[in-house]
Amino acid sequence: MLELLLALREELENKLKVVDSLQQLEELRVGYLGKKGKLTDILKGMGKLSPEERPKMGKVANEIRDFLESNIDEKMALLKAAIKEQKIKSEYVDVTIPKKHIEIGHLHPLNETKRQLEELFLNMGFKVLDGPEIETVENNFDLLNTPDDHPSRDRSDTFYIDDSHILRSHTSPVQIRAMKKYGAPLKMVSAGRTFRNDEVDDTHSPMFHQIEGLVVDENISIANLKATIDTVLEALFGEKLNTRYRPHYFPFTEPSFEVDVTCTKCMGKGCDACNHTGWSMELLGCGMVHPNVLENCGIDSEKYTGFAFGMGIDRLVMVKHGIGNLRLLFDNDKRFLTQF
Ligand code: DAH
Repeated sequence: MLELLLALREELENKLKVVDSLQQLEELRVGYLGKKGKLTDILKGMGKLSPEERPKMGKVANEIRDFLESNIDEKMALLKAAIKEQKIKSEYVDVTIPKKHIEIGHLHPLNETKRQLEELFLNMGFKVLDGPEIETVENNFDLLNTPDDHPSRDRSDTFYIDDSHILRSHTSPVQIRAMKKYGAPLKMVSAGRTFRNDEVDDTHSPMFHQIEGLVVDENISIANLKATIDTVLEALFGEKLNTRYRPHYFPFTEPSFEVDVTCTKCMGKGCDACNHTGWSMELLGCGMVHPNVLENCGIDSEKYTGFAFGMGIDRLVMVKHGIGNLRLLFDNDKRFLTQF
């Protein structure tokens, strides 16, 4: 019996070496130490032993049982530790790995300035409106008091879609739409694309951007016009630049002006960028709304007066960022755009 027990011990020791799962280990435990296990089987033979041998063999049997149990427990602890380690390894996240580089874009400088202007006017109580890029000749010219023989009506200047529809040549028709819709009093701006049959050069493009503004109320004067425009230009350029109001002609305003600001490159001293005038190229047109325009839109010109203005957004952006060539704004070249 002693031999049987020793053989059993050796057998289990060998088997334990190759066990590699908790399930196999449990099978071993049941197979050796369980009620119907091999040890129990051997111990059944105890009855056949002599009374002197029995306690000795009992002692050996107990030692072997303890030995088997502790070996199984030890193996169990090892297996559990290995499983845990495996789990930690498979779930490991290296938080120090640098994240994937995702390039995030930003607003185009034109849209940035457009939004800045809209925000500014909103804060001054203006409505921000939209208008269609395909306009009627009536809104774009007729109701804006444009004479029949005005050169801007020419097919060589403006893109006609048919006899009564064009690609709008300025944002001024949105004034007309706004006055017809809302009447007086009214404060509105509208920014967007405009189109003219211009040759492309450093400061011209057949597609460009304008923002239009209109204020109609009782007792509106040139002082209101100048205060509003100076405020906007100061907010845009971040410092007080000088402004110059030159007399001009627009069919829809009387009197009319063109506005220049101090050249931001030389601050008025005169340089190549400003043709040595000290003034940047004309940024906007403005004036007191012509009474005919008010009447065309059903507004009583005896009671109400107004001022209006139209600014080239592209030119504002060029002056603001010191860009010498308008085409750069439309080329979509990332090397240029990432600078802003
Ligand atoms: N529409 C003019 C242009 O495109 C700009 C302009 C001038 C708009 C005077 C106005 C204005 O509203 O009052 O050149």
